Amino acid sequence: MLRLNSRTFCFIFTFLFSLLIGGHTEADNASTASLDLLTGHDWQHFTGASVTPNGILIQPTGRAIVPQISVPAETNDPDRDLNANHLLTTNPPINIDGPILCVQGDFTLNATLEVNSTQGCSLYFYGTMPVIYDEWRQEGKTLRILFKDGTLTAAIWNGTSSDSVSQTFGHDLPTRITVSITKLGDQLIFVANGNQLGEMHDPGLFSNGQIVFGANAEPGGTFILKQLTAQSSDPADAVSVIDRDALVAYSVSAMSLRSQSARREYPIEIGAAVAAIPLMTDPQYRSLVAREFSMITPENDMKFQFIHPLPNVYTFNEADDIVNFALENHMKVHGHALVWHEALPRWVTDTSRSSAETKQLLSDHIRTIVGHYQGKVAEWDVVNEPLKDINLSTTYGLRSENPWYQAMGEFYIDFAFREAHAADPNAQLYLNEYGIEEPGEKFDILYALLKRLLARGVPINGIGFQMHEDMQNGQYVGSEPKLVESNMQRIAALGLKVRISEMDINLNADHVSKHLLYVQACGFSDMLKMALRQPNLASFAVWGVTDRYCSLTFDYSTFGNGLLFDVNYHPKTAYTQVQQVLSQNSRLSCKDQDGTIILP
Ligand code: XIL
Repeated sequence: MLRLNSRTFCFIFTFLFSLLIGGHTEADNASTASLDLLTGHDWQHFTGASVTPNGILIQPTGRAIVPQISVPAETNDPDRDLNANHLLTTNPPINIDGPILCVQGDFTLNATLEVNSTQGCSLYFYGTMPVIYDEWRQEGKTLRILFKDGTLTAAIWNGTSSDSVSQTFGHDLPTRITVSITKLGDQLIFVANGNQLGEMHDPGLFSNGQIVFGANAEPGGTFILKQLTAQSSDPADAVSVIDRDALVAYSVSAMSLRSQSARREYPIEIGAAVAAIPLMTDPQYRSLVAREFSMITPENDMKFQFIHPLPNVYTFNEADDIVNFALENHMKVHGHALVWHEALPRWVTDTSRSSAETKQLLSDHIRTIVGHYQGKVAEWDVVNEPLKDINLSTTYGLRSENPWYQAMGEFYIDFAFREAHAADPNAQLYLNEYGIEEPGEKFDILYALLKRLLARGVPINGIGFQMHEDMQNGQYVGSEPKLVESNMQRIAALGLKVRISEMDINLNADHVSKHLLYVQACGFSDMLKMALRQPNLASFAVWGVTDRYCSLTFDYSTFGNGLLFDVNYHPKTAYTQVQQVLSQNSRLSCKDQDGTIILP
């Protein structure tokens, strides 16, 4: 039996990465000599960093994740932003375009920092990657060293909790400091400028055999990373490095969803929401995305708090990675989301401004982002989720507790579409919403809004139906395709396109059975079958690629289950059904005339 130790893994990883990523694919010659991880490696695409003659200058990005909007039981106002006083999660940038260090056995990392302020300066060493959402960041196996007030604090996350174990070492440490971290068996030994500071237990942080780097400067501070090297302790356990400086196009199989759709008489785009971290660091995820889908929606990386974290700071790198990957692989990009009431950084929600200033802020935001991606991003969710869930009789059913509505009333929607259109006249512009799939009060509110927008000549091209669906007790309890069809037809009559923008079907079950997977599959395929009959359908997109990283994954112990590929990247029954619908070979319906599911 083949047992994978870290050396085998690193070899396989290097090999796979070479095959899949291309470019500088050869690991540097392995040796016990000190391996330079800065010179010749990609630090220019690292968020918050600039390459200078003195080293890598790390500046604060202010990137933080706002907590989820929670609505206490005693209020029935669902769009009140109650997160205002809750704590932010810091979201330090990761050099996902940069070098990956391959390690085996024992080794030493050396970093020289020149610190220019009393603010905290951190380096991060990722043994596994965090999963980053809109409202939290689930840290993987990570070591952080924080240099502050003349002390050095090492913190260790073991990959099963968001809590870290930390220890503070030293005092009066100088502002130019060389830190060495030596892994010796199950200990990590910390040395500063040649003096041993102490040690901590290593819970196997780097047992995967790879390390990705990150850094963070606290607000008001900067530092220079002057040196970063690695050295193995034993000639038999050499360290090596992999770079990701070139992207290759993947071959697309004829059976894939995108190929099946392309062969149809009226092809539609087959989309998926994608996150930059797995796209750049997980070769299996990356090849799946390119093989199966013809359109990408960045799941979170273009949201306000990620792409525009401070007033004059735009951090495009992660979104650029996604867009470049898509273009290399002949995929379209659906941008998401220019204007939303969620994922807003504190500088937007907590500053008092005049209406004119808010209007200017929104204009700058839209024009800068759409302008940056002009000709590259084919379409945009210009306004996301503008409608309330309840109390629809006030403010025309529009959410009002957000800076955009407060500054401009309903006309923020007109303004946002006009600004986006001015920035890229060729981009298709969408309004994206949930809970509008079936006829009802929320759809009526949307319909009335669209009529007003169209009467005012607002440049809107289509509506995204999010389609986050559910199962309960083994039954599909989501939107009924027939009812969705009537809404899609009413949108068509307004001269607008429709797209299914974020489909997933939550099993809401602890144990997955063949039956559940089949019911789920029918939910997807019946919806797609209906959608393909609509002449105004532009695309069908799922909200994620694999259950391993999906928005239904809430904590360390549970993965999601709502998508087409399972946690091991294998196609689920839902995939096969969707594929059959696209190839037009599927049987007519998953249900008999009474609406009962017919099992295969
Ligand atoms: C979700 C993301 O998938 C999660 O990672 C995040 O934690 C919350 O937001 N409607 C939208 C998407 O328009 O932006 C949301 O995405 C899902 C609901």
